[in-house]
Amino acid sequence: MRAMVYRGPYKIRVEEKDVPRIEHPNDAIVRVTLAAICGSDLHLYHGMMPDTRIGTTFGHEFIGVVEEVGSSVQRLTRGDRVMVPFNVYCGSCYFCARGLYSNCHNVNPNATAVGGIYGYSHTTGGYDGGQAEYVRVPFADVGPQIIPDWMSDEDAVLLTDAVATGYFGAQLGEIAEGDTVVVLGAGPVGLYAARSAWLMGAGRVIVIDHLDYRLAKARDFAYAETLNFTEVDDVVVWMKKATDYLGADVVIDAAGAEADGSFVQQVTSTKLKLQGGSPVALNWAIDGARKGGTVAVVGAYGPIFSAVKFGDALNKGLTLRMNQTPVKRQWPRLFEHMQNGYLKPSDIVSHRIPLEHIADGYHLFSAKLDDCIKVLIEPGA
Ligand SMILES: NC(=O)c1ccc[n+]([C@@H]2O[C@H](COP(=O)([O-])OP(=O)(O)OC[C@H]3O[C@@H](n4cnc5c(N)ncnc54)[C@H](O)[C@@H]3O)[C@@H](O)[C@H]2O)c1
Ligand SMILES: [Zn+2]
Ligand SMILES: [Zn+2]
Repeated sequence: MRAMVYRGPYKIRVEEKDVPRIEHPNDAIVRVTLAAICGSDLHLYHGMMPDTRIGTTFGHEFIGVVEEVGSSVQRLTRGDRVMVPFNVYCGSCYFCARGLYSNCHNVNPNATAVGGIYGYSHTTGGYDGGQAEYVRVPFADVGPQIIPDWMSDEDAVLLTDAVATGYFGAQLGEIAEGDTVVVLGAGPVGLYAARSAWLMGAGRVIVIDHLDYRLAKARDFAYAETLNFTEVDDVVVWMKKATDYLGADVVIDAAGAEADGSFVQQVTSTKLKLQGGSPVALNWAIDGARKGGTVAVVGAYGPIFSAVKFGDALNKGLTLRMNQTPVKRQWPRLFEHMQNGYLKPSDIVSHRIPLEHIADGYHLFSAKLDDCIKVLIEPGA
């Protein structure tokens, strides 16, 4: 089969690989019909994620058609059109039983802090991902769901990560009616977080980034006020001024480990790798939230420490909430919002690229060229 293969930082190729086989009776093999590139894939592409091995196939946002099922699979049959959450999880351990699917204890032999994620390095279990013609889906009775007839492929693929994560970010913010919500980052995750904040009763939504074309999308798609952070001297002072000098009720970090805005933090994190990620956005969140407010973190950070302003968070009495998204938990409400016409996930798609040219997709998305927001990948195109 054809598959995206990692050859080292900034080196992506499409190569011939063996079609994955059933390895366990509860596996399924899915023929991928549509995949996407996530902002998290960029951390892998940039060589930021420990134990990203040469030869791995990335891709944790994908949908497809069931090609083959193992002998104990009961809920899926060959030919089913399925959406697969980015989490690999068992569905029955202590954590899964509590809905913490992204923290499953049975799927990752390499780390206890995080569960399994498709195509996301050996740090998250070493599973090959879906930027390929076929993918092996473990625990096939647990994660995948048959795509409802009314849902398009483009919408479904975005629910497997980006939309669910934006929505989860807003949920973690525990938004109360009328709250002022600031979202840091106007990528797919930040855009969906901003849009979701309204669905949870926000009174004001402000999106901050430095890419004007993405801020335009934040205004059109997420009905948000926007700030380009390069146009002000001090982002935190701006946030305070915008909120009667109190600070925002809720700040959502949807930027994560490669946040811009400080040369020193950029060099020490992304270049020298002395930190598990640049804490710029997270520190703006801590400083920009009001006392007693909530900081929700869905932007990804690496396993080692980052220079986070923890003392300020403590002294302000902030609530800090974060996780990798337990994707399937968000689906019932997201399905409702889509059916009621409150959300059309595919509105943010900017590019569709054949799998053979996926390297171009990574380049465009990484360098934020051609007004790139979200890239879909078409195997077999
Ligand atoms: N928790 C999860 O389960 C989960 C799931 C999906 C993605 N993520 C993470 O969410 C983050 C965003 O993903 P994405 O797909 O939207 O990626 P993206 O790269 O498209 O978007 C990130 C955006 O943040 C902006 N940005 C950079 N520095 C900033 C700063 N200091 N303040 C405000 N904005 C800043 C960038 O210009 C960019 O537009 C990534 O870190 C990704 O790894 C986490
Ligand atoms: Zn992702
Ligand atoms: Zn589990």
